[in-house]
Amino acid sequence: MRELTPETITAAVLDQMATTPDPRLKKIMASAVKHLHAFARDVNLTPAEWIKGIEFMTAAGKMCTAERQEFILLSDTLGLSALVNGMHDKTAIEEGTHTSLLGPFYRETTPKLAAGSSIARRSKPGSECVLYGRVTNSSGAPVADATVSIWQTGADGLYDIQENATSIDYRGVFTTNADGIYMLRTVKPLGYSIPMDGPVGNMVKAQARHGMRPAHIHFLVGASGYRELVTALYLRDDPHLADDVVFGSSGDLAVEVAANDPDCPIGGMPSIRFDMRLSRESAADKTSGRVGADPAAIVRRATNSERVPTAAPARAGG
Ligand code: BEZ
Ligand code: FE
Repeated sequence: MRELTPETITAAVLDQMATTPDPRLKKIMASAVKHLHAFARDVNLTPAEWIKGIEFMTAAGKMCTAERQEFILLSDTLGLSALVNGMHDKTAIEEGTHTSLLGPFYRETTPKLAAGSSIARRSKPGSECVLYGRVTNSSGAPVADATVSIWQTGADGLYDIQENATSIDYRGVFTTNADGIYMLRTVKPLGYSIPMDGPVGNMVKAQARHGMRPAHIHFLVGASGYRELVTALYLRDDPHLADDVVFGSSGDLAVEVAANDPDCPIGGMPSIRFDMRLSRESAADKTSGRVGADPAAIVRRATNSERVPTAAPARAGG
């Protein structure tokens, strides 16, 4: 038997895992082990420090519920979600609008609303505006009947479910018309802090980071034959546009509220225009998933895969 030392342990682990039948799992795990071992060597990790790391992951797991996904928050604050999404964008068969984080506040149960409706249902104070735009294919032709799911904070920086787990406000699902146009009324959102009351918040505080996201509006756009688009628009005048704690904001997704846009479909109101371009869907897109989900869907999938060990592999997100 060979002697196991810090110099030989990585090769020993890789040798033992070489029996993995699934080639993709084999490649991912071999790379993870190589990089984890390299990380431990790089910082000369002590046992006490690694136990702290294990306690951190344990606390993150305990924080996860049907309403909260602390591991996605960790992935977001480490820039890993933005990296995975950015690499995924590059695999599209056509260049479309770039993706941005789904975040923890998406809900599959969002109601369908008629074009022009307001998603601001309760009378909280806010600066009203029209939100509209055109959904096109990569050549600029309109995509009709696309489903455009939208969610955002109110003007106070709070999502509906942060105030009340069952209330529905500042979210709705719209359908594009024959010209690819979606249109609704809303209020200008406000930037906000990510949830800071858990282990990820403690990490962000220990790093003396501000924890803020710039004001934004989320979009999930789906149309038959096109790659699903998860993105967000960001308000250019937000002071945190350039230092989003989860690395979702990007110059190409920044917009302004226009006071007098001549194309605004509801005259006399300030408006935000956000056009989106969809890539045609490839066969691989059908299984590639997304980083992010309604947290309830993650709990459901995790529970099902515990019950049925041979179930199809879970997707990376919802
Ligand atoms: C959000 O946009 O809602 C969000 C995204 C990532 C982490 C926390 C919040
Ligand atoms: Fe958000």
